[in-house]
Amino acid sequence: MQFFLDTADIDEIRKGLDLGILDGVTTNPTLVAKTGRPFREVIEEICSVVPGPVSAEVVSLDAEGMVREGKMVAQWAENIVVKIPITTEGLKAINTLSQEGVKINTTLVFNPMQALMAAKAGAAFVSPFLGRLDDVSSPSLGLVASIIDIYMNYGYETEVICASIRHPMHVVECARMGADIATMPYAIFEKLIKHPLTDAGIKGFLADWEKVPDKPF
Ligand code: G3P
Repeated sequence: MQFFLDTADIDEIRKGLDLGILDGVTTNPTLVAKTGRPFREVIEEICSVVPGPVSAEVVSLDAEGMVREGKMVAQWAENIVVKIPITTEGLKAINTLSQEGVKINTTLVFNPMQALMAAKAGAAFVSPFLGRLDDVSSPSLGLVASIIDIYMNYGYETEVICASIRHPMHVVECARMGADIATMPYAIFEKLIKHPLTDAGIKGFLADWEKVPDKPF
């Protein structure tokens, strides 16, 4: 499973890279706005430090505008992935840009048919939003399972990015289902490593180590 950070904060991205297992980054307009910095500057800086895919979202609502923005953003770096929401206009833009070799991450996916349509249009990635579905009492993990089943049935190579992740169990369940990627805030990325029994175990071992005579280190 690949791990992406869902952030536009360069310090968080650098901390993630230090761990050595960060595969990519996803952003959205909300995350870029939080930085208070210009869009292009932020995206280009992220692309320069992250070797893997970096998603940058378009904001036009019509296909023509999405294609125009997507082509512009795609020129900023080789590892750019253009993020497009799955609307009727979005689908047209996904089709056009994919045919021109631009990698697309289809965003705001909330049902399996949106994911199938995106794959048919040639999207490289599809992003089901787990947390936002959970927020409205809809089963998000079932959505991920359905998308994976449907893609396997028809041999689509579109990769599933589990997004809007709110806690480590989202990641556990997505990994059990074989989702390709989980994108998450840095705070959750850190939590994946931690366990209180690991910390307690280290504390106990270090206390006992003090009783060992003639320690070599
Ligand atoms: O970037 C897409 C998605 O991960 C957003 O998550 O937490 O705003 O629902 P969230």
